[in-house]
Amino acid sequence: MSEGGIGAAPVRVDGRDKVTGRARYAVEHPVDAPLHAWVVQAQVAVGQVRHVDRQSALDVPGVVAVLDAGNAPRVADAADAELMVLQGPQVSYRGQVVALVLAESLEAAREGARVLRVTYDEAPHDVQLTRDHPKLYRPGQVNPAFPADSAQGDFEAAWNGSPHRVDVRCSTPAEFNNPMEPHATTAQWDGDRLLVHDSTQGTTSVKQHLAAAFDVAEDGVRVLAPHVGGGFGAKGSARPNVVLAVMGARATGRTVKLALTRAQQFSLVGYRTPTLQRVRLAAGTDGRLTAFAHDAVEQTSTVFEFAEQTTEGTRHMYGARASRTTHRLAALDVPTPRWMRAPGEAPGMYGLETAMDELAEVTGIDPVELRIRNDTQTDPETGQPFSSRHLVECLRRGAERFGWAGRDPRPGVRRDGRWLVGTGVAAATYPVYLSASGARARRCPDGTFEVGVNATDVGTGARTVLLQVAADALGVPPECVRVDIADSDLPPAPVAGGSSGTSSWGTAVHLACRRLLEGTDEQVVVDTADVIAAQAEVSRHAFGAHFAEVRVDLDSGEVRVSRMLGVFAAGRIVNPRTARSQLLGGMVMGVSMALHESGSLDVGSGDYANANLADYHVAAHADIADLDAEWVEEVDDQLNPIGTKGIGEIGIVGSPAAVHNAVWHATGVRVRDLPITPDKLLAGLPQR
Ligand code: MOS
Repeated sequence: MSEGGIGAAPVRVDGRDKVTGRARYAVEHPVDAPLHAWVVQAQVAVGQVRHVDRQSALDVPGVVAVLDAGNAPRVADAADAELMVLQGPQVSYRGQVVALVLAESLEAAREGARVLRVTYDEAPHDVQLTRDHPKLYRPGQVNPAFPADSAQGDFEAAWNGSPHRVDVRCSTPAEFNNPMEPHATTAQWDGDRLLVHDSTQGTTSVKQHLAAAFDVAEDGVRVLAPHVGGGFGAKGSARPNVVLAVMGARATGRTVKLALTRAQQFSLVGYRTPTLQRVRLAAGTDGRLTAFAHDAVEQTSTVFEFAEQTTEGTRHMYGARASRTTHRLAALDVPTPRWMRAPGEAPGMYGLETAMDELAEVTGIDPVELRIRNDTQTDPETGQPFSSRHLVECLRRGAERFGWAGRDPRPGVRRDGRWLVGTGVAAATYPVYLSASGARARRCPDGTFEVGVNATDVGTGARTVLLQVAADALGVPPECVRVDIADSDLPPAPVAGGSSGTSSWGTAVHLACRRLLEGTDEQVVVDTADVIAAQAEVSRHAFGAHFAEVRVDLDSGEVRVSRMLGVFAAGRIVNPRTARSQLLGGMVMGVSMALHESGSLDVGSGDYANANLADYHVAAHADIADLDAEWVEEVDDQLNPIGTKGIGEIGIVGSPAAVHNAVWHATGVRVRDLPITPDKLLAGLPQR
């Protein structure tokens, strides 16, 4: 290991730029005399735009153009129909884009959008998901490519023949990605060449989409994203903002800046589907699972099918003779749900791990011990061995660090003044993804090195850890290496998603650097597709265990998470400082999911009504007390050359269940429908 290489804990290389404001985000890049764009959204949930009175906005001083379906540049058919903006009169959900106002100032654009007269022919809408919705169907597959259903053994027989059973219905609400930087784009045409600054998790895929949509050569399109203020999945593919900005620039011949508002984020960039779940667990007297079933109902839009893999995590978690999992979907008149940090695993493990807590209750087995008894080193879904699985170590170490031993299992019996106190545990898993990536490495005449990899740093520290990986592979101190990222002119690379960035880009960086040292050329370019194709058939997953302590105010029903610890087994940790931050960030998001976040659907208008950060509360500093994350050393040589599993998402998986389980332990009340708000909790607490 070189000093400052893998395992060292350097601060972020771009930290100073960020805190001093030198780091520029998508609409902050200086350009001469840009136009500002403001999106106009449909005010009906279903219907047709009858007329857009462009003049009503053009009368506002400073407004330069109004684009709508009648005059917007045509774009080529896209697989993602949400990107076919302003291509026709159909309105498929409230908040869909119906026009774009372009003006000399942001204020003029906003005023133009406000006064723009749009009329509609409205049709009835259907936005309410139910367990027996008549439109429910089985999708062909669930995100990204898992089977919709699975079945092993005879579930009914195993279920009927088991002494212990729990049958739990629970739900999670629509939740919304709220990165600090909204979706934003600066777009500039120069003839058929296009330069774009986009707030995205991956510039390669945005470049490819724009080239196809606007029918220009890929190598004439350059997309840059040097700094991105968070994404959580919402920026995992091109979104309407980038298409609109490029359209606006094409139509006006000017540079266009477009930033969505916080409210617009709630309908235009994706969100986590609500889920309605049923979990059935059957066990023998020893607590070993004999059968499990996990059924999920979720929504998509009529524009594009996004089918979330809610029960996919359950398939790999615990062994049983018999199992079944299902996903059913209804296409409603709502915005299209998409990725939000651990799509599938986050809501699904809430269902499974709260049901496991109920199984612990009915079997009388300690919840940590119950999970240890049901551990398996063989993937129940595939029959393959896990490349490594250290869930038991996470549970044991967490129990010790948290002070679990001697816990009184009875609920509702610990008081501290007017607070009820309880503790809970939940396990977590997240798959290991590895995508093909390019990278290049170059030896400079002065003896230093340049590495280029089209990674995106969405705030995670990617720029920093890839420098560590490069320095390590080259065997030199980090000061001797420069790493360039987030530029679509670099070799193609995957998005920052699926917790796979460090593994995917890191593998390419590692190989490029090693090949540079082995050869005599001054520059090498690699593509890791062959490395991935050669991988052995094993099951690769990260695991973790969350422990939470909560205090519940007897009078108000307020829940405070007073203590929380996550212990993870996620392969090699490249940078303990940035890794801990990512894991803590996931856990904070889990607390937020457990207690706060919930889109309030207004069925009448067909809109999520709380599209702001006052009414849609995201956990703030005051919500988080004593939070810690750590990991067990895990060496796994069946992953990739640097031995990483990925840590971006597992922190949120399981953490809401740990909070739920702790709330039950404190109060004896199970609020199965997230979030656990005081009204629901008080309804279950005994009258005093
Ligand atoms: Mo993440 S939801 O894979 O960007």
